[in-house]
Amino acid sequence: MLSKSAARRFFLVGTALCFGAFLLLTVDTLGRIPEQTNQQELSESAIRGKHLWDRSNCMGCHTLLGEGAYYAPELTRVYSRRGPVFIEAMLRDPEAMYPGRRRMWQYDFSDQERQDLIAFFAWIDRMDLNGFPAEPNLLQVAGADGLGDAASRYPLTFQQICVACHKLEGQGGVVGPALDGVADRMTPETLRKHLKDPKSVKPDSLMPQLPLDDATIEELVAFLSTLKASSTGGAR
Ligand code: HEC
Ligand code: HEC
Repeated sequence: MLSKSAARRFFLVGTALCFGAFLLLTVDTLGRIPEQTNQQELSESAIRGKHLWDRSNCMGCHTLLGEGAYYAPELTRVYSRRGPVFIEAMLRDPEAMYPGRRRMWQYDFSDQERQDLIAFFAWIDRMDLNGFPAEPNLLQVAGADGLGDAASRYPLTFQQICVACHKLEGQGGVVGPALDGVADRMTPETLRKHLKDPKSVKPDSLMPQLPLDDATIEELVAFLSTLKASSTGGAR
């Protein structure tokens, strides 16, 4: 048994040590912030995007760095998860990316404002957050195994945007038709037209017109043209 004075000394020394450790760790954490956040890469555009983010009450629905409301997806890693094209389309017209269930506010941003928000997301995306948040993988969310092999064969844009609505090899969303064997149904020329503007191929098409640049469209057309029934969708 400790005597009363020994217990008091034990308490005081223990408290002082813990407090000291706490201070040291705090100073250490603060010291790392500039490096972990890439402070020096914070562009004018990203700063404007941050102010826009605050002013527009995005946090009324979304979380960023875990802070905000839990109504809508966490956006800390949205830049790598979705990419600039998806984000641009979403900010332009939320219904386009989630047909028939628009729950996000339709803002009236200018092109510049959308680019500023994207620059802000790109900057946040590069922050070193010690692994937060756990990265969801769209293809994994969609199910099925053998994900690594399959995903690495798809162009990045396809992984980021198209699988949100389309299944391929059993993985992906169900908003649009599965794309296995699409090369048997559509020529490269039709695919190209379809990606530029789906309504030019089918006037009542439910697929949104996505802001894809020509190089990306060519990459996607080349990829889609390999999707013949004989080579995909078979024995998996
Ligand atoms: C009224 C609530 C609400 C507000 C305010 C809101 N959002 Fe959203 N947002 C959503 C919902 C809900 C989704 C998911 C799509 C859906 O279910 O319609 C979403 C999706 C997104 C996505 C796509 C995320 C993904 O992973 O698919 C981005 C990017 C986005 N919002 C950015 C913003 C930005 C930037 C702002 C502020 C300028 C904002 N949102 C304000 C509700 C909101
Ligand atoms: C927001 C959901 C959505 C996204 C994102 C999307 N699509 Fe679609 N897509 C659709 C829908 C819905 C259709 C069916 C259109 C119709 O017939 O009305 C479709 C049709 C298609 C078709 C025609 C398929 C057929 O068999 O007729 C192709 C090819 C296609 N999409 C490719 C793509 C590619 C490539 C991407 C990525 C750049 C993409 N889509 C992104 C919803 C989407």
